[in-house]
Amino acid sequence: MSNKVAVYRKEHFNSAHRLFNADWDDEMNKKVFGKCSNPHYHGHNYELIVKLVGEINPKTGFVMDMKLLSDVIQEQIIERFDHKNLNEDCNEFAQLNPTAENIVVTIYNILSQHIDPVLKMTVRLYETERNFVQYPA
Ligand code: NI
Repeated sequence: MSNKVAVYRKEHFNSAHRLFNADWDDEMNKKVFGKCSNPHYHGHNYELIVKLVGEINPKTGFVMDMKLLSDVIQEQIIERFDHKNLNEDCNEFAQLNPTAENIVVTIYNILSQHIDPVLKMTVRLYETERNFVQYPA
């Protein structure tokens, strides 16, 4: 049996967004996105869970130092998105509809530049208690 272990770090951020497709008129946007297309935006309390799978480093006993993982998530994700309007304040979503699906892929792509690629990362994002997404699937 391999000594691979999954470690998880949970973080939290609040952001506002509006879901819409600029190619569609207001009526079509309202039909597809409902209240989430409200032009005046609305907020979510996002819960972010980052999972890393890897071998235990025999010198430290860690898969990854959780303090370092927390720092990376804080610096790269929380500071970027917390208390922001994703559509208006964040370049990542200037041209990309900030659905939970697009947000989780964006977060994965940012974090993957700062996490040792030998660790297999999975990112899960809760937009509400009942609606959540995961990438890779
Ligand atoms: Ni929403």
